[in-house]
Amino acid sequence: MKATAIRSLKGRRVWDSRARPTVEVEISLAGGARGRAIAPAGASRGSAEAVDLRDGGEAFGGLDVTRAIAAADGEIAAALAGLDACDQEAVDDRLAALDGTADASRLGGNAMVAASMAAAHAAAAAKGVPLWRHLAGDAEPVMPLPEIQVFGGGAHAAGRVDVQDFMVIATGASDYAQALDWTAEIYRAAGEIMAGRGRLAGTADEGGLWPAFDSNEHALETLVRAIERAGLVPGEQVGISLDIAASEFGADGRYRLARDGRELDSDGMCALLGEWIDRFPIVSIEDPLAEDDMAGLAAFTSAFGTGIQVVGDDALVSNADRVRRAAETGACNAVLLKPNQAGTLSGCRAALGAARAAGWGAVVSARSGETEDVTVVHLALGWGVGQLKVGSIAHGERTAKWNEGLRIAETLATGGRLPPRSQFPWG
Ligand code: PGA
Ligand code: ZN
Repeated sequence: MKATAIRSLKGRRVWDSRARPTVEVEISLAGGARGRAIAPAGASRGSAEAVDLRDGGEAFGGLDVTRAIAAADGEIAAALAGLDACDQEAVDDRLAALDGTADASRLGGNAMVAASMAAAHAAAAAKGVPLWRHLAGDAEPVMPLPEIQVFGGGAHAAGRVDVQDFMVIATGASDYAQALDWTAEIYRAAGEIMAGRGRLAGTADEGGLWPAFDSNEHALETLVRAIERAGLVPGEQVGISLDIAASEFGADGRYRLARDGRELDSDGMCALLGEWIDRFPIVSIEDPLAEDDMAGLAAFTSAFGTGIQVVGDDALVSNADRVRRAAETGACNAVLLKPNQAGTLSGCRAALGAARAAGWGAVVSARSGETEDVTVVHLALGWGVGQLKVGSIAHGERTAKWNEGLRIAETLATGGRLPPRSQFPWG
C-alpha cells in the first residue's frame, strides 16, 4: 500500500465559537502521517449551499452532529479507505458520489468538508510540508490581503443593524503584518469612540464590536472616524468593505431595513448603496442584493463594478456553475470562497477556477461559527487567491487564523508581501 493511502478515518464531536457541536475528522495514512480538520458553520447561509447534517430534537437546539459523526466513522471511512490522500479530486469525487445529493444533505456538508480538508492536511503531513505548500506546488505565492471586521451586524448581532459586516481593507499596507497592525489600531480606536458615547457593549459573533448604532450610516460614519483616530487616511491607506448580506432582509425584490425604518425595492437598494459609495471610502461590497435578485446584482455591478469589488456569497455559494452563470449576466466581479458551501475542497477550487476564467477576483472566507482550524489561511495562500476574510481581529477562533498567517509569512520567499494594488479594483 502506498504511504499516502488512507488507512483510517475517524470523526470527533468538538465545539465551535457559538457553543455548538461540530465535526472534526482525523485521517491516518498508511505511512503513518495524520491530518485533521474541523467543519465551520454559517448563520447567514445561501439557500443553495451544502447542508450540515444535524440531529434535530432537543439537545443543543437540535444542532447536535452525532449523525454526521456516524456518517464519517461509517460510510465515509469505508469509502475513502485505500484512496491516495494526495489525489484530492479522487477523494472529493468519492465523497460527492457517496453522498449522492446536490446539497450534501445525506452525509452532511459538515462531515464531508471535514473529511475533504483532513485528507489535504494528511497529504501535506506525509510530504513533510505545510498545507499551503502542498497546494501551491512550485508556485511562490504572496500573502493574502486581509479583509477584517470592525463592527459585526445582521445575523451575527441579533439584527442590531441590518448590514452584517463593517470591515476594513488596508489597501495601502506594505505587508501582511502592517495590515493587521493598522486594523488593530482601528479596532481599538472604534472601541474608544463607542466607550466615549456609552455605547461599548461587547462583541458580535465574529469578534467585531457590538453595533449599538441608531442607523447603518451611523456605523459607517463611526468607522471612518475610527480610521482617522488611528492616524490613518480613509480611502488612501484603508478602505471600507461591507458585507450587506442582503438575503437576510430582502426577498422578492423588497428590502426591509429595520434599523433605518425603510423598505426599498431593488432599484432603491442600489441607489442607497450608491449614496454610501459616494459618501464613504468603500472599496468592496458583498451581497449588495439578495440571492434571488440576480438582475439587481447585475444592475449594481454594471453601475459600480468598475471602481469597487462586488463579491457574491449567498447567490454563488462557492459553486462553479453559479459563478459561470453570474459572469454571463454580469452579476458580481468577485466570488467568496467558503469550502463548506461547496462541501469539498475540489468543489470550492472549481469555483475559483470559474472566477479566474471570468477575470474575477476571489476572497477565501471563514464562517461565523468557527474553531481553531486554520485551513482557510492555507487555502488562500496555496491557491494564490489574494484575499482572506475571517471576521474580526479579536476572539481566538479569528486570531488563530491571522496569527497562522504571521507564522507562514516568516517562511515565505516573498515574506509578508501582499498582492500588488493594481490587481484589485481599487488599484
Ligand atoms: P455566515 O456569514 O458564515 O454566518 O453564513 C458569513 C458571510 O455572510 O460572509
Ligand atoms: Zn457574506
